[in-house]
Amino acid sequence: TGLFTYDPGYTATASCESQITYIDGDEGVLLYRGYPIEELAENSDFLEVAYLLLHGELPTRGQQNEFNRAITLHTMVHEQLKNFYNGFRRDAHPMAIMVGVVGALSAFYHDSTDITDKKQRMIASHRMIAKMPTIAAMAYKYSIGQPFIFPRNDLSYTANFMRMCFAVPAEEYEVNPVLCDALDKIFILHMDHEQNASTSTVRLAGSSGANPFACIAAGIASLWGPAHGGANEAALNMLEEIGTPERIPEYIARAKDKNDPFRLMGFGHRVYKNYDPRAKVMQKACHEVLAALGVKNDPLLETAMELERIALSDDYFIEKKLYPNIDFYSGITLKALGFPTTMFTVLFALARTVGWIAQWTEMIEDDNQRIGRPRQIYTGARQRCYAPIHKR
Ligand code: CMC
Repeated sequence: TGLFTYDPGYTATASCESQITYIDGDEGVLLYRGYPIEELAENSDFLEVAYLLLHGELPTRGQQNEFNRAITLHTMVHEQLKNFYNGFRRDAHPMAIMVGVVGALSAFYHDSTDITDKKQRMIASHRMIAKMPTIAAMAYKYSIGQPFIFPRNDLSYTANFMRMCFAVPAEEYEVNPVLCDALDKIFILHMDHEQNASTSTVRLAGSSGANPFACIAAGIASLWGPAHGGANEAALNMLEEIGTPERIPEYIARAKDKNDPFRLMGFGHRVYKNYDPRAKVMQKACHEVLAALGVKNDPLLETAMELERIALSDDYFIEKKLYPNIDFYSGITLKALGFPTTMFTVLFALARTVGWIAQWTEMIEDDNQRIGRPRQIYTGARQRCYAPIHKR
């Protein structure tokens, strides 16, 4: 009808005003509340950056202690929640479990489903940030048939998560600080990325007044796809399929072939038409992890490095500005840390929960907040008369 702007994929539509994350895709800049991502990844830790995203400022020592206490208060999950896991097949994809279990949290915390109460909104935020590692680690333990490990509140956010994933009862488990630091960086780098598909999903779901647990579950569902959060899993699967550097040209040719739907996973980005700043930090962390673990001459890594080199010097990739994105390196790092590929997107969801909550809160507190209701360009049949079945 010409009444509405048609903008498939929303490449030219700002859906909201936001003060949380700034991206300059041409320059390769990413800021959380004004701070460069590189500085935060280098100097900060998970809960400090979470505080920054939620409250807009870095915490003072007192605020930090109070926030850490508020989070650790909620790291346990209700005993009944455990029963959910038993209902799943052991080979269920952990993202399927996450969508179900996180969505079900609203059935346990009726008090914090009242979104009109600022205090309850904050408690809901703390609950989700605190419980995500527990829920994610339980999904992992369930998949490998090991008993759940209880959270330990004397450990850092990330160390506690690693312990819940990798410790086994009655055996000592020491968190390796280099590996823990790398995982913490991965989490910080994934925490927010302005109005991507899953964050927009959380905002759209929340705009109707749905409770925050349901909104985050919607975000997890959106994140799952291979063009978004599922890309790190897809990137690693692709590297394993390629196998050796000799086979790379075959895959590069396929990526360029217009008649072949194949894409190089872990390359390209809707917004970054320059090097993804997170990819740089990730590349360094990836090498640190491999050095700490003594991984040398790993065929997967050699394939990855060679693929990166070829893609960065190939005309097709240069012209289309297709650089390696964060998922290219995070997949390799997470595998080295000991996580199976099916857990990769779960770890992304764990970190992004902070961004989703910060964005959801910002939306609820925005005076201009209205229910999201996109329109369409109708291209279907004009009005016509119903024909009874014997006349069709
Ligand atoms: N390999 C080969 N060609 C590609 C790739 C790729 N990875 N990505 C884009 N292209 C080509 C595409 O075929 C198109 O060519 P043409 O103009 O000739 O039709 C052109 O580049 C533009 O692509 P597009 O699909 O219009 O770009 P988009 O902004 O819609 O898609 C993307 C962005 C990330 C979905 C896409 O680059 C892609 O599918 N990449 C692989 C998956 C991936 O790594 N995703 C993770 C994104 S970062 C994590 C996150 O933020 O969630």
